[in-house]
Amino acid sequence: MPVRALFATQVYTAQWRDTAARRLNLRLLRECLQLQADDKAGRDWSRRGYPGGYTSYNSLCRMQQLSPTFAALERRIDAHVRKFSARLAFDLMGRALTMTDCWVNIMPRGVVHSLHLHPHSTISGTYYVQTPPGSPGIKLEDPRLDRYMAAPPRLLDARPELRSWVTLPAAVRQLVLFESWLRHEVPPNPSSRERISISFNYNWF
Ligand code: NI
Repeated sequence: MPVRALFATQVYTAQWRDTAARRLNLRLLRECLQLQADDKAGRDWSRRGYPGGYTSYNSLCRMQQLSPTFAALERRIDAHVRKFSARLAFDLMGRALTMTDCWVNIMPRGVVHSLHLHPHSTISGTYYVQTPPGSPGIKLEDPRLDRYMAAPPRLLDARPELRSWVTLPAAVRQLVLFESWLRHEVPPNPSSRERISISFNYNWF
C-alpha cells in the first residue's frame, strides 16, 4: 500500500547477558536495597510522592556521582545512548549527551508510577535490576494523543506502531531508552516481590 510512516517515535531496548553485567546487577541490587535502608529523606518523601514504594528521585538523584557501582552502570548506558543518539540523527553541535540524574525505584506489591514525562532532559530511560514474574512493563503513550479529536479508536490487534499505548515488558538486566518527552507509566505491581529499577536522564547542555 502506498503509505509511509512519518514522525515515528523511536524506542531503544537492549538486553545485557554477559557475565560482567550479571555481576554488576548483583552489586546494583545490593546497593538499591541498602540505599532504601539508609536514605531516610527519600523514604519520607516517598511516603507522600510514591505511596507504598521507595524512590531516591528527590533525595539521592545523582547516584552515578556517589557510587562506583552506579558509575559503572553509567559507562555502560553511555555507549547505548551514543548509538541511540546516532539513530535519532541528533546534531549535538559538538556537545555530548551526559547523564544528569540517576535514581532508584523500588515498587512492592500494588505500587504504581502514574503517567509522566521527564522535563528538562533529552533522553531518559530505565534499567531493570529485579523483575519478579508478573512485573508490569513500561506503558508508553502516543505523544499525539491530545490531537486525535475525532479519530476512532484502534483495533485491539492493530500493529504496535499504530496503537495509542504500547507496554514493553520489563526484564532483568534490560535497558530501555526513549526521548524524554514521551509520556509513560508503570501499572501496579501484582507480585509479592519488589520490582526494582534504576531510572536516569541525559542532557546535551
Ligand atoms: Ni519515568
